[in-house]
Amino acid sequence: MQMVNFWQKLKKPIFALAPMDEVTDVVFRQIISEIGKPDVLFTEFVNCEGLQSAGQTKLLPRLDFTKQQRPIIAQIWGINPENFYKTAQLIKQLGFDGIDLNMGCPDKTVIKRGACSALIENPQLAQQIILATQQGAQGLPVSVKTRIGVKNIITEDWIGFLIRQNLAAIIIHGRTVKEMSKVPCHWEEIGRAVQLRNNMKSQTLILGNGDIKSIAEGEAKITEYSLDGVMIGRGIFQNPWIFSHNQQTHSVEERLELLLRHTQLFTTTWEKSKNFNIMKKFFKVYINGFTGASELREKLMQTINFPEVEKLVRDSIC
Ligand SMILES: Cc1cc2nc3c(=O)[nH]c(=O)nc-3n(C[C@H](O)[C@H](O)[C@H](O)COP(=O)(O)O)c2cc1C
Repeated sequence: MQMVNFWQKLKKPIFALAPMDEVTDVVFRQIISEIGKPDVLFTEFVNCEGLQSAGQTKLLPRLDFTKQQRPIIAQIWGINPENFYKTAQLIKQLGFDGIDLNMGCPDKTVIKRGACSALIENPQLAQQIILATQQGAQGLPVSVKTRIGVKNIITEDWIGFLIRQNLAAIIIHGRTVKEMSKVPCHWEEIGRAVQLRNNMKSQTLILGNGDIKSIAEGEAKITEYSLDGVMIGRGIFQNPWIFSHNQQTHSVEERLELLLRHTQLFTTTWEKSKNFNIMKKFFKVYINGFTGASELREKLMQTINFPEVEKLVRDSIC
C-alpha cells in the first residue's frame, strides 16, 4: 500500500507539541492550535488493551480532535500486538494522520506490565508491536517516542534497532528511564542517533526532546545536532504562545482572556466526565509573573466551576 506519510511533507525544521497525560486533551490542543500552532500535535497516551475492551467508551474521548489540530497523531501504549493491530485500524478509521508508540514512559505501573519504556529491554516484543501497528495502520505513518536506555545509555543498540524498523519518525527524549527528568538532557546522544540514521541511509526522521523552553533554543539544538525537528513539552506551561514563532510578550489581560477561554471550553467539553480540579492545574500557566498573581491564583483554586472563575477574573481586570 502507498504510504501517505505526512511527516515527509512537513516543512523542516519540525516543531511538535509533546503528548502529555491529562494536559494535551482535545481542549488544550485546541487552545494551542488557535494561538500558535505546532507543526504536529499528539494525543495523550491511550492504552490499547483498554481500547479493545468493554472500557473502550471511557477511553475514546482521549482520541477526540478537531480539524484545526491536524496533523494529529494518536499515541498508544500496551503489551499485546494483536491489540495494537486492532487499535491501529481504529485510529485509521477515526481519521488520524499518524500513530505513535509510547516506548518512553517511566511510570512504575506501566513498566511493571512490561509496557512503554520497559520495551527498551524487550526489543523482540517491541518489534512485534511495531509490525502489528504498521500492518493495522493501512499506510498511516507509525513513529516511536522513546528514551536512550533504561539504566544505562544504549543509544546505538536501541535507536539503531528502531531505525531498522522502517518507522516514519523517532522522537528521542535524551534521558534514561532511571534518570526520569532529573538530570540535564543528553543532547549529544540525540546527535549520535542522527549520525547513526545517516550512516544507515534511513529515511526515518529524528526529533529531539528534553527541556526546550523556546523556539530559539529548539532552533539551536536543531542546528547543532542536525535534527529534523524538536518536540516541546513542559515549555508550553511557561509560554502557551511558544509555537507562535514571535517573541512578542503577552499582556496580563491577554493571559486572563486565554484562561477564560480555556476554562469555558474545558467546561463545555468535559462537564460531565472530568473533575474541575484537572482544569485548576492549568491556572498557573496563565496566572504568574505579575503583581497580585499568587493572590488571584489562590482565590481561583477555591472555585468549582466556570462562572466562579469568570467572576474572579473579570473583577481582577476591572
Ligand atoms: C504531565 C506530563 C505528562 C506526560 N505524558 C506523556 C504521555 O502521555 N506520553 C508520552 O510519550 N510522554 C509523556 N510525557 C513526557 C513528555 O512528552 C516529554 O517527553 C517530557 O516532558 C520531556 O520533554 P520536555 O522537557 O519538553 O517537557 C509527559 C510529561 C509530563 C510533564
